[in-house]
Amino acid sequence: MAIKSICCLGAGYVGGPTCSVIALKCPEIKVTVVDLSKERIAQWNSDKLPIFEPGLDEVVKLCRGKNLFFSNDVSTAILEADLIFISVNTPTKVIGNGKGRAADLKYVEEAARMIADIAKNNKIVVEKSTVPVRAAESIAKIFIANQKPGVSYQILSNPEFLAEGTAINDLLNADRVLIGGEESAGGKEAIEKLCSIYEHWIPRKKILTTNTWSSELSKLAANALLAQRISSINSLSAVCEATGADVSEVARAVGFDSRIGSKFLQPSVGFGGSCFQKDILNLVYICQCLNLPEVAAYWQQVIDMNEYQKSRFTAKIIESLLNTVSGKKICILGFAFKCNTGDTRESPAVYVAKTLLDEGATLKIYDPKVEEIRIFEDLTHPTICESPEEIRKNVLVCKDAYTASEGCHAVVVCTEWSEFTTLDYKKIYERMMKPAYIFDGRKMLDHEALISIGYHVQTIGKRLGKPLVTRSWSTNSIA
Ligand code: NAD
Ligand code: UGA
Repeated sequence: MAIKSICCLGAGYVGGPTCSVIALKCPEIKVTVVDLSKERIAQWNSDKLPIFEPGLDEVVKLCRGKNLFFSNDVSTAILEADLIFISVNTPTKVIGNGKGRAADLKYVEEAARMIADIAKNNKIVVEKSTVPVRAAESIAKIFIANQKPGVSYQILSNPEFLAEGTAINDLLNADRVLIGGEESAGGKEAIEKLCSIYEHWIPRKKILTTNTWSSELSKLAANALLAQRISSINSLSAVCEATGADVSEVARAVGFDSRIGSKFLQPSVGFGGSCFQKDILNLVYICQCLNLPEVAAYWQQVIDMNEYQKSRFTAKIIESLLNTVSGKKICILGFAFKCNTGDTRESPAVYVAKTLLDEGATLKIYDPKVEEIRIFEDLTHPTICESPEEIRKNVLVCKDAYTASEGCHAVVVCTEWSEFTTLDYKKIYERMMKPAYIFDGRKMLDHEALISIGYHVQTIGKRLGKPLVTRSWSTNSIA
């Protein structure tokens, strides 16, 4: 029997776009995305979707109300479904054993318990969330312990590899789809059923099938390897700044080697996003639990290098501004963790802003897609802020880059939005305090042009002309 009805638990950055594309490509299948959050589902059913993702609006408009539905009625969606995706969040644990490293599977467990409670016929249950290796075993335990007559389950692992900002394209033109399942006849049949969904638009040779544990681990491995490339190039950016080499030239030179390749070698203020850090910490924790301390230390270094890059960049800003930003106005351009998304989870901009605020700066922030309420929620989050009133007093969220930079001592570029490359920097310079500084955390601006306007410019991985004023009275640490 072919799959006729799909339910997805979790209407987030993964569940929403993934199921919208499945609905688009499989018009004969009814796809229902459910969430516990009433607000999120209301947004999915409105003209303003809860997430900004290029191309998503169009896909949702084409399918919503036809074969794509967003609902809070979890029970009906589970009852009707032949196949259920679990796309709930799997954050890092904040309390208890493994705190700060292990993945918190409480939402996955809750989802599994809901399915076990409600289901009245056989279901294929698919882990779409990123989970620790062997998580499917824990889900199976819940099903076995709550077994009802006439109801059996097949559990598959089908991790998602989309990146935010390019999610629709990544889903439509996936490099590969990965499906892990049991070797048994039932397992193979379930794998085939899930394959047949993706085969509506993905060539069969790009659909990889493995055992469940390989599939689960491959997701963590892919994120770890991608993040490792960024930390590697960022580590080299520090060498470039110290020697006069240019990290873009180095990245280009090594990227031409087909064994290395050119992607994911863009130096930056550091990687952000909800997953790289969380998934590597999870991998580190797994290695520690498996008594593989050397392997754990190896991957931990990818995170440590990222922390170093963020703090190195921020220290450079403070040092350049005569070693004090107290009472100075600083413009932050970009608050999202990358361009083409409004997502700020683990954004390096949060780290930069928080550090400058702690040093006494006043911030004017502009991001094309991040709303004011999100910026204040991030900066006043109890884990990083003791005095929300102070933050509200010292941060102004602006409607464009010109307003944000007006009257500022420095502009700091934290996100690689393309509109930042086409700003009228002469106009911005005229309205800034002098000397006017630009700190380009994405190595994306035309630095020579900025220097000729009169700016003092600093970036990642390239030593530019030394600022005119280089030494403060309070320190001798500046070269
Ligand atoms: P998210 O926080 O945006 O969305 C998760 C949603 O699940 C939330 O809306 C939450 O309310 C809902 N939820 C929690 N428990 C539920 C339950 N029992 N029933 C129904 N809904 C429930 O998270 P996300 O960014 O979509 O990530 C989901 C998973 O996918 C994570 O494991 C993540 O690591 C992985 N992933 C994310 C991305 C990405 O780009 N964000 C890419 C690949 C994989
Ligand atoms: C990443 C992976 O690319 C996806 O394959 C994966 O599915 C996803 O994590 C996940 O599991 O959540 P995402 O975090 O959305 O996707 O975005 P990326 O494009 O990977 O960027 C992550 C961070 O690295 C951003 O802050 C970005 O600016 C930074 N980055 C990326 C660099 O600093 N340099 C680069 O060369 C590339």
